[in-house]
Amino acid sequence: MRVLLTGADGYIGVRMGHYLLARNHEVVGLDSGFHRSGWLYNSDDRRPAMITKDTRQVTEEDLAGFDAVVHLAEVSNDPVGEVDPGVTYKINHQGTVYLANQAKRAGVRRFVHMSSCSVYGASSDRASKEGDATAPLTSYAKCKLLVEQDVGALASDDFSPTFLRNATAYGASPRQRFDLVVNDLAASAYIFREIRMTSDGKPWRPFVHILDISHAVACVLEAPQDAIHGEIFNVGSEEQNYQVRQIAEILSELVPGCSLVFGDSADARNYRVDFSKIHERLPGFRCAWNVARGAREMLDMFARVGFAEDLYRWSGHTRLKQIRYLLDSGQIDENFFWCW
Ligand SMILES: NC(=O)c1ccc[n+]([C@@H]2O[C@H](COP(=O)([O-])OP(=O)(O)OC[C@H]3O[C@@H](n4cnc5c(N)ncnc54)[C@H](O)[C@@H]3O)[C@@H](O)[C@H]2O)c1
Repeated sequence: MRVLLTGADGYIGVRMGHYLLARNHEVVGLDSGFHRSGWLYNSDDRRPAMITKDTRQVTEEDLAGFDAVVHLAEVSNDPVGEVDPGVTYKINHQGTVYLANQAKRAGVRRFVHMSSCSVYGASSDRASKEGDATAPLTSYAKCKLLVEQDVGALASDDFSPTFLRNATAYGASPRQRFDLVVNDLAASAYIFREIRMTSDGKPWRPFVHILDISHAVACVLEAPQDAIHGEIFNVGSEEQNYQVRQIAEILSELVPGCSLVFGDSADARNYRVDFSKIHERLPGFRCAWNVARGAREMLDMFARVGFAEDLYRWSGHTRLKQIRYLLDSGQIDENFFWCW
C-alpha cells in the first residue's frame, strides 16, 4: 500500500516509518520538523523519503496517488496543548479535519488517526471501552474526540477513517521523548540512580510500546475494509494497565542501586482501559512488548549512546521545552508556522 505518514519525524513516527517499510508498504513521510534537533542514535533501518510541510498547507495534489494517510502530525501532549489552546484546535482539530477532507477529495481510501486513551480522562474504576462515556480533561484530549466525530462523519464507500486510541507510549526511538512517564523514569533511574516521584503513584494508566502502536497501524491498513471502516480501537493490552508506582518499581529493580521515593500528591488522570475490541476485530493484533521489556530496551540504548544528564535535559527531547524555545527565539510564529 502507498502510505503518507504524517509526523514521520516524531517520536513514534520514526519507528513507525521503519516498521511500515519493513512490512513492504511504500511510505512517504511528511512533517513540519519541530523536533528534528532531538536525535539520540542511529540505526541502519530504512527510512521513508521526507516532505517538510505543515499539514495545514497540504493540498489535494500532495495527496494524489496515496492509498492511505496515517496521521500522527499533531501537537502531541497535554502541556503543549495548553501553551495556546486556540493553536491546538487549529492544528489538532481543524487541521486534521482539513487534511482528511483533502485526502478524501484526492481519492485516498483510508485515513488512520492517532487518537488517545486520554479521552477517557478521570473515569470510573471500570476499564473503559470504546463505546463508553468519555471525559477529556484538556484541549489535547478534547481535540482527539472532535476529530473522531468530524472525520468519522466523512466516512463513505470510498473513504474509511479509523481512530486508534493509543495508551501512553514508551520505548526507544532515535527521536526520543523524555516527557512520557516510562521514558522519563527510565532516564532518571539510569542517570541519577534515583526515582523521586512527587505523586503517590496510585493512579491507573494504560501503556503501550511504540512498535505495538506501529503494528496496530499495519493491522488497520491490511484489514478488510468492513473491519476498520469508521471504527475506534483502544490500542494496548489488558496487562499493561499499570499503577504508575508499578512502573517506578519495575525500573528501580532493573537499575542496580536505584532508590525509589514517592510523594503524596494525587494525579487526576486515573483510568483503566479495555483492549478486547482490537484483539477481537483485528485478529493479527497483539502486543509483543511490556514495560519491563521496553525499559530494558531503553537502558541498553542509553549505555550504547553514552547517555547523560545534558541529553536528558536537551529541549529536543521534551515537547514543551522545544515549542517554547521555537516560540521564544522567533523561529515559529504564534500559529506555529515557521518564520523563515
Ligand atoms: N506518545 C504518546 O504517548 C501518544 C499516545 C497517544 C496518542 N499519541 C499521538 O500520536 C501522535 C504522535 O505522537 P508522538 O509521541 O510521536 O509525538 P511527537 O511530538 O514526537 O511527533 C509529532 C510530530 O508531528 C509533527 N507536527 C506537529 N504539528 C505539525 C503540523 N501542523 N504539520 C506537520 N507536522 C506537524 C512534529 O514536528 C512531530 O515530528 C500524536 O498525534 C499524538 O497525539 C501519542
